[in-house]
Amino acid sequence: MLETVYRFLEKHVPEAIPLPFTRIYDLFARTRLMKDFYREVASEVASEIYSGKILDVGTGPGYLPIEIAKLAPNIEVIGIDLSNDMVRIARKNAEKAKLLEKVKFMVENANEMTFEDSLFDLVISTGSLHHWKRPIRIINEIYRVFKDEGNAWIFDLRSDIPK
Ligand SMILES: C[S@@+](CC[C@H](N)C(=O)[O-])C[C@H]1O[C@@H](n2cnc3c(N)ncnc32)[C@H](O)[C@@H]1O
Repeated sequence: MLETVYRFLEKHVPEAIPLPFTRIYDLFARTRLMKDFYREVASEVASEIYSGKILDVGTGPGYLPIEIAKLAPNIEVIGIDLSNDMVRIARKNAEKAKLLEKVKFMVENANEMTFEDSLFDLVISTGSLHHWKRPIRIINEIYRVFKDEGNAWIFDLRSDIPK
């Protein structure tokens, strides 16, 4: 059953979320459930890292980088997304939070990032992996862009939910 769900997602879920689903996703990301999730991840990040550079892969509406910037002002956060509209929404959300100078959002394909090697202290990604058509390629790219002593934290849907 789970296999079937995954095959369906792989086939029918587009890699980049298109308009108008970007707008719908932004509304979902503002729910208490999601806000609590972003805050929890951000506080874990802030308790591990005090300064340096963090990359958020598949940032969507950008709430995770925004939460990190609130908790850890010495961290520079860059959020990337394949969807132009998501990046537009993320910038607007950062502007509303008055954090446009602390967080940067870029349209970038994680399959082929333009960042130099060993740039980031931490790479994070939440809820994006199930959209990746070439996950191994993206994981290799993530490995390339974090520093030797860096880390990657990738959060996504659980595959071991009860049937
Ligand atoms: C479900 S959203 C998750 C957004 C956000 N990280 C969150 O937790 O709310 C997945 C995002 O990954 C992006 N994405 C998918 N494939 C990507 C790729 N190859 N490179 C960059 N972003 C990608 C999509 O456009 C979408 O905005």
